[in-house]
Amino acid sequence: MRLDIITLFPKMLSSFFEESILKRAQNKQLVDVHFHDLHDYSQNNYGSVDDYAYGGGAGMVIGIEPVALCIEGLQKERKYDEIIYTAPDGELLSQSRSNRLSMMENIMILCGHYKGIDERIREHFVTLELSIGDYVLTGGELAAAVISDSFIRLIPGVLNDETSALSDSFQNNLISPPVYTRPVDFKGWKVPDILLSGNHAKIDQWRYEQSIERTKQRRPNLLDK
Ligand code: ADE
Repeated sequence: MRLDIITLFPKMLSSFFEESILKRAQNKQLVDVHFHDLHDYSQNNYGSVDDYAYGGGAGMVIGIEPVALCIEGLQKERKYDEIIYTAPDGELLSQSRSNRLSMMENIMILCGHYKGIDERIREHFVTLELSIGDYVLTGGELAAAVISDSFIRLIPGVLNDETSALSDSFQNNLISPPVYTRPVDFKGWKVPDILLSGNHAKIDQWRYEQSIERTKQRRPNLLDK
């Protein structure tokens, strides 16, 4: 997969992609990530990309020209499956959306900005608007990082043990069961006996029951799906 991220703050994002599983995904050449600094597409001598809002108020607004220049340049090189815009009023990110994104060839993410962007960008370039929750962030960079992480880890081959993504919380609309490691007894806090029994059928059954119980307690809305 190729991922292009358009942002005013590439440094905010690049370090995030230099660690752990996202780094490994790139080293294995399963994803190729490119950052594009919107300032490089400024149409004036000051390097600015925003302007006053028509009608007044609301502060400055990111203009369509630098964004169009950047997006159209990329579109000349390849066809994009989705051009995502991060915004609090977008579709709420879900595991099923991340599953679908993980199967795509080329994805572009345009990071939103607290100042807002010219609406024509959303109308004419963006194919999918995503929110990571009902709260407002200063910019879309954190949202872009969250969205990318959620689908990159699902690209086949990124996780060593592919079944580990299949057993994630939400994959089957259930919360994952609890897990334990050594020591078996810490200050009297014991690992459940069933996990030490060696009976895998019973352990699977116990884990499934724990998932159902946890989902009922913590996220009952998932059981309606
Ligand atoms: N930009 C600002 N807040 C956001 C949110 N909650 N999700 C996605 N992008 C955002």
